[in-house]
Amino acid sequence: MTPATTVPARHRHDVLVIGSGAAGLAAALHLAGDARIAVLSKANLAAGSTDWAQGGIAAVTDAQDSEYEHVQDTIHAGAGLCREKTVWHVVCNARAVISQLIDWGVHFDHDGNGFHLTQEGGHSFRRVLHVADATGHAIATNLAREAERRPNIELFENRIAIDLITTTRLRAGGPRRCIGAYVYHRERDEVEVFEARFVILATGGASKVYLYTSNPDGSTGDGIAMAWRAGCSVANMEFNQFHPTCLYHPHAKSFLISEAVRGEGGALMLPDGERFMPRFDPRAELAPRDIVARAIDHEMKRLGIDCVYLDISHQPDALIKKHFPNIYATCGALGIDITREPIPVVPAAHYTCGGVVVDLDGATELPGLYAIGETTFTGLHGANRLASNSLLECLVYGKSAADHIRKHLDDQSPNLDIPEWDASRVTDSDEDVVISHNWHELRQAMWDYVGIVRTNKRLERALHRIDLLKQEVHDYYSNYRVSRDLIELRNLIHVAELIVRSARARRESRGLHYTLDYPSPKPNGHDTVLYPSVTDPLDVLRNR
Ligand code: FAD
Ligand code: SIN
Repeated sequence: MTPATTVPARHRHDVLVIGSGAAGLAAALHLAGDARIAVLSKANLAAGSTDWAQGGIAAVTDAQDSEYEHVQDTIHAGAGLCREKTVWHVVCNARAVISQLIDWGVHFDHDGNGFHLTQEGGHSFRRVLHVADATGHAIATNLAREAERRPNIELFENRIAIDLITTTRLRAGGPRRCIGAYVYHRERDEVEVFEARFVILATGGASKVYLYTSNPDGSTGDGIAMAWRAGCSVANMEFNQFHPTCLYHPHAKSFLISEAVRGEGGALMLPDGERFMPRFDPRAELAPRDIVARAIDHEMKRLGIDCVYLDISHQPDALIKKHFPNIYATCGALGIDITREPIPVVPAAHYTCGGVVVDLDGATELPGLYAIGETTFTGLHGANRLASNSLLECLVYGKSAADHIRKHLDDQSPNLDIPEWDASRVTDSDEDVVISHNWHELRQAMWDYVGIVRTNKRLERALHRIDLLKQEVHDYYSNYRVSRDLIELRNLIHVAELIVRSARARRESRGLHYTLDYPSPKPNGHDTVLYPSVTDPLDVLRNR
């Protein structure tokens, strides 16, 4: 692409929202009556995980169920690390979130008695509201349509935030604060300045750091890496959730088979037809995800098989087609008739439980900067997220952050003189293969050494490779013009390092972090919090 010769644009808004998934769009919609907002997406508006979410959103809507039970299930799945205040905050706001989604146009499935509720692993009650097996798509399209209607919301697609801008970049200095972001415009191939009084990171998770993932391509942990570089703490990065059942097929990239299939009676089987989950947990297929994923991994390694099978074919055809139309159609297109035969499945990286440390308002430690959704550590998920609690967390914190920002919109805003992005010392790359090679090497190393089952030795190996890749990519970044792949690779390497350092610090097995060197949990669990201001990585580990 020829470099642009015009001066890159500068944008000024009250609030810059980086990310257009459930979290980012919810925050923007809640603020739209009071502030001028920019929402960025690195591709189209539906580029995040939200659009891919299947099973649904957890909320207590049945009179037999209770918020207390939802809180207990969340805490139980979280294996001793959930922050109770956060869990109550999220669970108690769930009904308001559902009403708001309905107002924004989402039509949840109903049966004769009200909402049709599905069952998922770790829930003691049917409490997951859904729109067939495409709940995320219904939420994403309705939120996007609402946002497009609001004059105060400006939507910017194909814009990739590279780094946050803080007052330390200003000649005039001033108290430390986030004041915007440098953003790469993919079509124009230039870097713009987005200035804002408040910045919200809503960039989603980092599961693309693993070779096999249920996530879209953009889940590269950009928000976590940007916040870390800007001086924010991150926590619990070792807890990477592997979804037990992704479709195993050479022509299916990242296609999830929803946990709701197990909720409707789907059984996990070995190639010889043995149903194996009862051997691992009395809750069998509906045990929390960490247990099911580990059991599958164990059986695959024990037998040397490429996948296990999920069988729902004993259910009536009509039920399968009604509740799982997309799974039925996608599998059907690949020659698998799920009403007649089992589905080949494998675990894959699915969700980032840790992230940027925030408080109950979604505020980070850096004034002016908020973070919401999968990019955060709120304390809701502990060591293992309960199914269908993520969309809920996105929407609750989208509102919490908006409410907090609204209270400060009248505060004085200084006149800023943000310098332009300096590209004077870089040239066009003549070796893009370095980027593609390193992308692959990093994701393969993370899959092989930092996966479902870990050891000290494997973590050391991973760290060694990450250190080499980090140096190489740093050199590349300093010498060549930015591109989408380079921005994402740089972020993935930072995130990988945070994951491995957190995993090394946890000398026990708990929730999603399982290591053969310390196979049991310690009596008292602690969060792993990394502080960026201290340079020695082992000194930066504090247990809160
Ligand atoms: P996302 O929806 O991932 O959106 C991230 C946004 O940030 C995108 O717009 C992206 O373009 C933008 N972005 C990222 N980096 C940058 C950057 N540098 N510059 C500009 N923009 C950027 N959870 C549930 O609760 N229930 C479910 O049923 C469920 N099913 C799931 C099924 C699948 C297949 C997957 C992958 C996840 C599922 N989850 C589910 C998890 C849930 O979907 C996600 O955790 C949630 O949608 C994350 O929302 P978010 O708003 O934080 O981020
Ligand atoms: C699923 O449908 O299995 C995904 C649910 C989730 O990730 O919460």
